Amino acid sequence: MKGAIIYFSGTGNTLNVVNLVVKEFGEKNIECDKIDISKDNTVSKDYDFYVFASVIHVYVFPEIFTNWLKKNAPIVDNKRCIVLSVQAAYIGYGGRQVTKMLSSKGYDVMVVRSIPMPNNYYFNSFFKETPEQRKKEMKEEAILEVRNIVNKFLKDEGYIEKQSYIITTISKAVYPIALRHFNKWARKKLTVDYTRCTKCKKCEKECPTNNIIFQENIKFKDKCISCLRCVHKCPVNAFLYNNKHFNQM
Ligand SMILES: Cc1cc2nc3c(=O)[nH]c(=O)nc-3n(C[C@H](O)[C@H](O)[C@H](O)COP(=O)(O)O)c2cc1C
Repeated sequence: MKGAIIYFSGTGNTLNVVNLVVKEFGEKNIECDKIDISKDNTVSKDYDFYVFASVIHVYVFPEIFTNWLKKNAPIVDNKRCIVLSVQAAYIGYGGRQVTKMLSSKGYDVMVVRSIPMPNNYYFNSFFKETPEQRKKEMKEEAILEVRNIVNKFLKDEGYIEKQSYIITTISKAVYPIALRHFNKWARKKLTVDYTRCTKCKKCEKECPTNNIIFQENIKFKDKCISCLRCVHKCPVNAFLYNNKHFNQM
């Protein structure tokens, strides 16, 4: 048996969960390939099962992920799958958002779970950084939850979290409005501290929408999705938000 784990992670939390899934299946001698949707556009339809995982933005899966699924998730003949959403608060609504689409492509959605991980969006006093103690607890809880998910999946037991129809519907309507703001976000809010920047170009290489052009200086186009990868992953924390350095996750 071999599985494909198809994922989008802005800053690494979803990737951490994906790595836990790989490890958990691995301990049962089941191999999984990881497919990062920001790098790969093709995936075989011949895997025995599939895992779809993404960060939650504004209560739903970001468009970069849902569009990829619509376009690139292979049409299969009744293959079992797991849908995982990763967010800061306990509940995410990604499962409800994609279950119908995956079913129409031939997937049997066995598991839908949301897994809380540390908040990466804490620019204002409303959205707070997760306290260190809670970060540790979240990582421990994620290990147990992933173990549970894999065990239930292998026993062919359904494990579907209830997800609010109303909140999903509202969030799906709000997301495109938020995205218009996100598209200009980097241009409006981010600058670079060139006394720190080493011009390693990691931000340019890693940006999932190719929104960063690095020539003499950094330039942002208008395709930012506000995933915060550039800000959190910069090796020298060179980005400035409202002219101040940001406390990286
Ligand atoms: C633009 C944006 C919107 C977010 N919206 C939500 C949200 O609606 N609910 C929530 O719990 N967390 C939200 N978060 C927090 C992330 O979902 C959370 O930190 C997640 O673990 C990040 O995963 P990643 O590192 O794979 O990108 C948001 C983060 C960003 C950047």
